[in-house]
Amino acid sequence: MFDLVIRNANLPDGRIGIDIAITGGKIEAVDAGITADAGQVIDAAGRLVSPPFVDPHFHMDATLSLGLPRMNRSGTLLEGIALWGELRPTLTKEALVDRALRYCDLAVSQGLLAIRSHVDTSDPRLVTVEAMLEVRDRVAPYLDLQLVAFPQDGYYRAPDGVPALNRALDMGVGVVGGIPHFERTTADGAASVEALCRIAADRGLPVDMHCDETDDPLSRHVETLAAQTKRFGLEGRVVGSHLTSMHSMDNYYVSKLIPLMAEAKLHAVANPLINIMLQGRHDTYPRRRGMTRVPELLAAGINVGFGHDCVMDPRYSMGSGDMLEVGHMAIHVAQMASIADKQKIFEIVTFGNACAIGLENYGLKKGCNADLVILQASDPVEALRLKANRLTVIRRGKVIAQTAPRVSRLALDGRPAEVDGAAYAPTAAR
Ligand code: FE2
Repeated sequence: MFDLVIRNANLPDGRIGIDIAITGGKIEAVDAGITADAGQVIDAAGRLVSPPFVDPHFHMDATLSLGLPRMNRSGTLLEGIALWGELRPTLTKEALVDRALRYCDLAVSQGLLAIRSHVDTSDPRLVTVEAMLEVRDRVAPYLDLQLVAFPQDGYYRAPDGVPALNRALDMGVGVVGGIPHFERTTADGAASVEALCRIAADRGLPVDMHCDETDDPLSRHVETLAAQTKRFGLEGRVVGSHLTSMHSMDNYYVSKLIPLMAEAKLHAVANPLINIMLQGRHDTYPRRRGMTRVPELLAAGINVGFGHDCVMDPRYSMGSGDMLEVGHMAIHVAQMASIADKQKIFEIVTFGNACAIGLENYGLKKGCNADLVILQASDPVEALRLKANRLTVIRRGKVIAQTAPRVSRLALDGRPAEVDGAAYAPTAAR
């Protein structure tokens, strides 16, 4: 007797007509024709059932603050950072917690059940850290929230950057962040990478660094990050986030860099929505795309993740907590248009992102956490194309969110009465 059986599911790997049996919050079996009784049965009716979406790069302390204290007029990252600096002294713990909890509600409704958020440590009050630690505890029953100590104004450049970051780690923030390209000099940036990797090694923590988020082809801190990862034995525990300068780098240099990144087992996290919005702002035409070299990184065997980065804050005014929107943009910006490419993109916003943040017991195998999403789509490609409805969201074997199917009623002579966007040709039929 199982607690729950989901019947007739299509899985992201292409298997169809599969049943998923769940007991005690864990997946017990994934197979066709499971016959044992269950306390609850959900008929997936040939729709895609996936592990939940994961966001490996977010700023939960800034989310939903759009318009405070004013709008970003230039739309650039530098004005966004300056604007956040204006807002920061006015932040209260209560407002931060309230906005973050509201964002987590939205995330859950979108089947997004694990988020790694950077938390700004630049204001020595560390009200951001206090607030996000509280949020991490409060959402724990329904969402895994990891926190990164992030020195937005620079580890060395901000007056209290060094002690504040260390204090945040003492308070319980579990990942070491950094922003080497924002330090005063290239040498300071490289020194910050070394110091932060040393802290991570000493404390036994992972590293997730904003790295080379610039169009400057000579911003090469990812090289240092890979080298220090090797030096401190941090292989597999370090994420290079953004890496947008790689877009503009010389090809010969990249031919040396990517193998070094692979050797260090770096994870590379791009943020397609915000990068395409913010990068290339100093260009006239042709205007560069603002994303790192995703197909080339994948071809080298490097784990790639895609983050949302920001939703309605001083740096980015759009966003909806939807990792399918993130993947949809990645398809376009990386020009990953084949069916295999799009399947890979779906894999990235689920498994790749989970791998980047070291999420445990994630997946669709026996023994994994019973965290699942039933989508209004038959396969991953259709899910991305439609940014499909998340019909049912399950956490540890319990339904925690539901959305009604999207079906439009038509009043057209000689045409069907209803149109369901997900009822058009599935990928397999094309
Ligand atoms: Fe970021």
